[in-house]
Amino acid sequence: MVNVAIIGVGTVGQSVAKILEDNKTLISARAGKEINVVKGAVRDLSKKRNTTIALTDNIDEVLSDDSIDIVVELMGGVDEPFKVVKKALTNGKAVVTANKALLAYHRYDLQEIAGALPIGYEASVAGGIPIINALKVGLSANQIMSIKGIMNGTCNYMLTKMSQEGVSFDAILKEAQELGYAEADPTFDIGGFDAAHKLLILASIAYGIDAKPEDILIEGIENINGHDIEFAKEFGYSIKLLAIAKKSGNNIELRVHPVLIKESQMIAKIDGVMNGVSVIGDFVGETLYYGAGAGGDATASAVVSDIVEIVRAGQSSPMLGFKKPHESQILKLISTDEIESEYYLRMRVQDKSGVLATIAQICADNEISLETILQKTTDDKNIAMLLCATHLCKEKQIKQAISEIEALEALEDKVSMIRIEE
Ligand code: NAP
Ligand code: HSE
Repeated sequence: MVNVAIIGVGTVGQSVAKILEDNKTLISARAGKEINVVKGAVRDLSKKRNTTIALTDNIDEVLSDDSIDIVVELMGGVDEPFKVVKKALTNGKAVVTANKALLAYHRYDLQEIAGALPIGYEASVAGGIPIINALKVGLSANQIMSIKGIMNGTCNYMLTKMSQEGVSFDAILKEAQELGYAEADPTFDIGGFDAAHKLLILASIAYGIDAKPEDILIEGIENINGHDIEFAKEFGYSIKLLAIAKKSGNNIELRVHPVLIKESQMIAKIDGVMNGVSVIGDFVGETLYYGAGAGGDATASAVVSDIVEIVRAGQSSPMLGFKKPHESQILKLISTDEIESEYYLRMRVQDKSGVLATIAQICADNEISLETILQKTTDDKNIAMLLCATHLCKEKQIKQAISEIEALEALEDKVSMIRIEE
């Protein structure tokens, strides 16, 4: 018999307890042992919950209980869960966590502390999709050329509803929170940080890169509005928040931001709370993974898979997948300024002679080649909307051009920019 304690019995924690109860016979057969949830730790014992497990508000009591074999951390945050997981490991317990924020900062520390003790974290990236196992095990024969994913269910849900139903940003965020998709602090979702945490975890498995969120380009969906969505539709694009890792020679680029992506691409068709990840390996080619990226039950499915794997096999490989120092020693994370993309710019400008020519000249001065320029009328006859798409250029070039354009008197608003992903 294996005893499990759950630290944090909220949306995901309650679903974990439910799956282990509802599928007890099947799970015990697969794991080869009976698995029991013996305790749960929460902050507020008076809250009403949909579970029958014994609860305490004393985490230390759980961590020092010798009868507990596996500690499942589902409380969220960074510092507090780091202490909890460290203590659980020090006390000889295996750990399972869904906490990508914790791993974004402490995955290498935890790998070190754990030693031979297993740490499962399948639920930390893309909810119910077994992408960690795919990268760690299924694709271990390959150099990973790229990872591109819709990895935040809240953003994808919001962008889908904004595009399909014209719902306002604020109303749809509230709905995503009520459905249990959003983080405790939803700015993590809409600001792109949650997707970045997940990308960093995958980049560690794929490349051994020890980067932190502050080392990479992260932009959220806060500035996407109806005009962008309309433009995207008119030109056959969808707007998605993508997390992208690309290898080119010994360089790795890591970035999270909204993109315009052709509607015909598979990843553009992933709607609602669903997540999708495309991984290209040098021998396998492109592989695609699709499933629910948030929500209690889908996430708990991945948490329970880790528990079963630990009971069945113990730690079958090092936490982040590498037994020896490897190519990561020569791989270099390229700076944000050097990343190349095509860009879409939207500008509200005074509709008078010379404005378009000045903007085109600023682009030319920054060696940015324009692919398309379109002028649209607005409700105000003195104001025009300029939309343009560029050919490939570097972040530092487009940033410089935007700052010069924003300094023009004829500009009515800040420039809105979205990268175009082919
Ligand atoms: P949640 O509903 O807010 O639940 C968090 C639980 O942790 C609550 O039961 C809370 O207690 C407890 N808790 C927080 N701080 C605590 C402390 N200091 N001591 C004791 N208990 C504490 O969060 P969730 O949505 O289940 O998410 C849990 C984790 O899974 C997070 O790391 C999240 O990023 C990750 N995750 C969530 C999803 C999702 O779709 N929700 C998907 C993938 C990963 P009270 O109930 O008493 O407040
Ligand atoms: N808040 C996250 C999301 C939960 O919306 O995808 C899953 O990690």
